[in-house]
Amino acid sequence: MSQLRPQLRPLGAALGTEVLGMDLATPIDAAALGWIETAFAEHPVLVFRDQRLGAADMLRFARQFGAPQPHILERYRHPDFAEVSYISNVGADGRIDPAGNDRATSWHADETYNETLPRLAMLHAIEVPSARGGTIFADMRAAHDALPEASRQRIAGLTGTHRWLAGPARAWTLYRKTEAEAKAHPERRHPAVLTHPVSGRPILFVNPSHSTGFVGMDPEAGEALVAELSDFAVQDRFTYYHQWRAGDLLMWDELATMHRGAGDAPPQERRVMLRTIVHPN
Ligand SMILES: [Fe+2]
Repeated sequence: MSQLRPQLRPLGAALGTEVLGMDLATPIDAAALGWIETAFAEHPVLVFRDQRLGAADMLRFARQFGAPQPHILERYRHPDFAEVSYISNVGADGRIDPAGNDRATSWHADETYNETLPRLAMLHAIEVPSARGGTIFADMRAAHDALPEASRQRIAGLTGTHRWLAGPARAWTLYRKTEAEAKAHPERRHPAVLTHPVSGRPILFVNPSHSTGFVGMDPEAGEALVAELSDFAVQDRFTYYHQWRAGDLLMWDELATMHRGAGDAPPQERRVMLRTIVHPN
């Protein structure tokens, strides 16, 4: 292995695991990649501190795990690398958007309203606020395993329905104004309990932003069940609040976790991050 022997250190009680002894700004070899893959299969939120990656470095790292995707909205894309986008509250004119705090603060997993589910996503913190402004993650494997037996049996054979920002979190007010906009996105279906393709573990695969219900279930009852399962999954015992430091590179498993912005940063402070979402090859 070209790097120093890396180590893992838990950050939160539920999940969140720091990787020590790895520099991602230089290419990593197959042994180091294999080490990360093994760690990631068990620890779905990995944090590499004190990294200094440009967009090209981040993309090179991300490509080793699959196919990074261009952001659906062109205005968020990095000018040179479409697969890397900016998550920032700083506008093109340099002014800070105080509403930036409110973005993505409803629990969700990314792109579950699409046919192809992403594998993982990465955020690299460039500028962070002086306090808070974290991202919170929930372990949907642990949530599944902790469900009461009756609930596990109830959802085991169900197929979930997903549509962009149409779930019980009512997450859409910042993003879309009309029901017609949501209807423009077709409904997609995914099992309510996914088997993780790497770890083989069952995952509670609902999220209150995009899950609308279940095939064959009354819509109101389906939405209520999505809300009930989501509320169960975001108890403190399953979640981790990541306090960002500049230089953090965090990668999370998009199947095994939900996440949300905490939305609690001082609103006039700059926050700039690079993001990429990686689909399976
Ligand atoms: Fe997200």
